[in-house]
Amino acid sequence: MSESNVKRWAWAEVNLAAYANNIQSLKTLVAPSEVWAVVKANAYGHGAVPIAKSALTAGASGLCVALSGEVVELRNAGVKAPILVLSQQPYESLPILLQHAATHTVYSIEYVDELVKHAVALGVSQVPVHIKIDTGMHRVGVAPQLLTELVHHVQELSPCISLEGIYTHFANADEPEHPANNEQRRLFAESLNQLGHLSESLKIHSCNSAAAIRFPQERRSLVRVGISSYGLSPGPELTDDCRDLEPVMSLKARVSHVHVVQPGQGVSYGHRAIAEEECVVATIPIGYADGVPRKLWSEGGEVLIGGRRFPIMGVITMDQLMVNCGPVGHCQVAVGDEVVFIGKQGSEVITATDWAQALGTIAYEVTCGIGARIERQYVEVHH
Ligand SMILES: Cc1ncc(COP(=O)(O)O)c(C=O)c1O
Repeated sequence: MSESNVKRWAWAEVNLAAYANNIQSLKTLVAPSEVWAVVKANAYGHGAVPIAKSALTAGASGLCVALSGEVVELRNAGVKAPILVLSQQPYESLPILLQHAATHTVYSIEYVDELVKHAVALGVSQVPVHIKIDTGMHRVGVAPQLLTELVHHVQELSPCISLEGIYTHFANADEPEHPANNEQRRLFAESLNQLGHLSESLKIHSCNSAAAIRFPQERRSLVRVGISSYGLSPGPELTDDCRDLEPVMSLKARVSHVHVVQPGQGVSYGHRAIAEEECVVATIPIGYADGVPRKLWSEGGEVLIGGRRFPIMGVITMDQLMVNCGPVGHCQVAVGDEVVFIGKQGSEVITATDWAQALGTIAYEVTCGIGARIERQYVEVHH
């Protein structure tokens, strides 16, 4: 146990061997397309720097992030690979992005002009950009009918800007049969056709995890994989496809207090859980401030202790929660026992996807939600 575990009996284990295996499996699946690892949002809560380094060692060709600060963090940690920022950023952060050799996403002429202005001021002569086309996500991107004008502006009127890629993003790839997928694919292909031979010399990409797995003909130059690299399915329709990927993050804690509750006594705020019979209640020092959602209790949340499942009992508080460990006499649970919230213990397993299903959300939100107070411990466990 590390020193910080002694200080805090709650932590996340991030298995870099599992992550590297997932990247390698995805690479094999999509070859000869490249894999670019999506490490935004602190690598979906897993820790940006260790994950980014592991991705590159495992064969990823580039990284994708959402924010300028995420580029800075990776560059400061010595990451040299291309880092694509997936959206345009506030103009104020352009100097920082240029100084840290980001690959920019652009979708407006004004933004390109601003980029040129800052690049000239800083004496940066080769600024790599990818143009993002909005083929139907309706979040960010240039409208297909404005693409040729933007390409012309980048290529002919923007010194120091080097067009390296063109891409789009699917809104419904996790539902592979959704009709909007075909419409997006058609619009993307049509947009590329407008550019003629130019597109042959560029990196063309459209796939997130779900599309990379289910739309082989869309893999093109590279795929941008996030959730699958963390060993989680993009959604229920891809569960089978992701069977061989291994979840990377486990969330663990230790029992901090054990006591007996009498029949009729209430547990936690509001006494919304009332003991039906005398039972042993274990307190675990992790709460909603750490990303264990308050309503996980009412949605049937369980934990693993000693290889067995026990139900969370009562409302989850900010820093602690309680678990019903069953009748006195049968209960072996003791202070210091390991508690698994997400991960394996013995033959039992609870996944981020289980939480997502219980909570009516997606696994992405579960791992991204694991709070900053939870130390990430990096391990290499080969199965
Ligand atoms: C533009 C873009 N590409 C790729 C991804 C990765 O998606 P996934 O985690 O489903 O693989 C994301 C994530 O949201 C994204 O916003």
